Amino acid sequence: MGILEGKKLLVTGVLTDDSLAFGVARLAQSEGAEIVLTGFGRGLSLTQRVARKLPEPPEVLELDVSEPTHATAVAEALAERFGHLDGLLHSIGFAPASCLGNGILHAEWKDVATAIEISAYSLKTLAAACLPLFEAAGGGSIVGLDFDATVAWPGYDWMGVAKAALESLARYLARDLGPSKVRVNLVAAGPVRTIAAKSIPGFSVFEETWDGRAPLGWDVDDSEAVARACVALLSDWFPRTTGEIVHVDGGYHAVGA
Ligand SMILES: NC(=O)c1ccc[n+]([C@@H]2O[C@H](COP(=O)([O-])OP(=O)(O)OC[C@H]3O[C@@H](n4cnc5c(N)ncnc54)[C@H](O)[C@@H]3O)[C@@H](O)[C@H]2O)c1
Repeated sequence: MGILEGKKLLVTGVLTDDSLAFGVARLAQSEGAEIVLTGFGRGLSLTQRVARKLPEPPEVLELDVSEPTHATAVAEALAERFGHLDGLLHSIGFAPASCLGNGILHAEWKDVATAIEISAYSLKTLAAACLPLFEAAGGGSIVGLDFDATVAWPGYDWMGVAKAALESLARYLARDLGPSKVRVNLVAAGPVRTIAAKSIPGFSVFEETWDGRAPLGWDVDDSEAVARACVALLSDWFPRTTGEIVHVDGGYHAVGA
């Protein structure tokens, strides 16, 4: 029996089969979960196509986290389909090009606001929309994808600031959803080649250095370790862990040089 047997999950962020969320969706299904995916904007048809590559092709709901009605509609569809929810994967990030590269001193607030709204605030949007479904299940698990925001990275700029907001928000949500027995944790992943990663100028710097510095080594084309951590956190195997950031980066964050 899988560690997610019988669990009902909402998995956001599947765009291609390289997406971190795709690895989570595949492993979650093989561990017994029933999942629903979400797709965004023009990528929706891509998500629908890639969903067919999963062992059990799941339903795909439209979700643009900047459209206030979308998250509510997703929650309503889940209520109808499952009646409750056991887990939610937040695997959503976006920053306009002006926010990346040499963006810190030059990006305008409206672009920065977009980066923070899509990449951080959306965790609150989804958590709030899904809370009644988690309460109907007697609790649940929210897992978000993070990139270590404790240091300044080359090129990551306002996306790094958005990740710092995500890290802080996850702690506040852990505080406020704890009484409903909903856990909120992040997985701080090392660099993996995905569409989002390729949009970061200087991503190649991470690719070149990570494997050599990480004590356990690192492969930018392999997100299996990230998927395993997400699935473990979505399962019942971390019952008293919340507000936590689990690093799945080969140990890179722990060493100085
Ligand atoms: N790839 C990496 O190296 C890496 C490392 C650490 C953390 N992360 C994080 O993992 C998460 C997933 O990224 P990925 O690397 O799998 O790339 P990806 O491009 O496959 O996924 C990003 C997802 O965000 C979704 N998205 C963007 N704007 C949206 C909106 N307005 N509404 C709803 N969805 C929207 C896209 O549709 C896409 O599915 C992101 O939060 C990213 O910051 C990635």
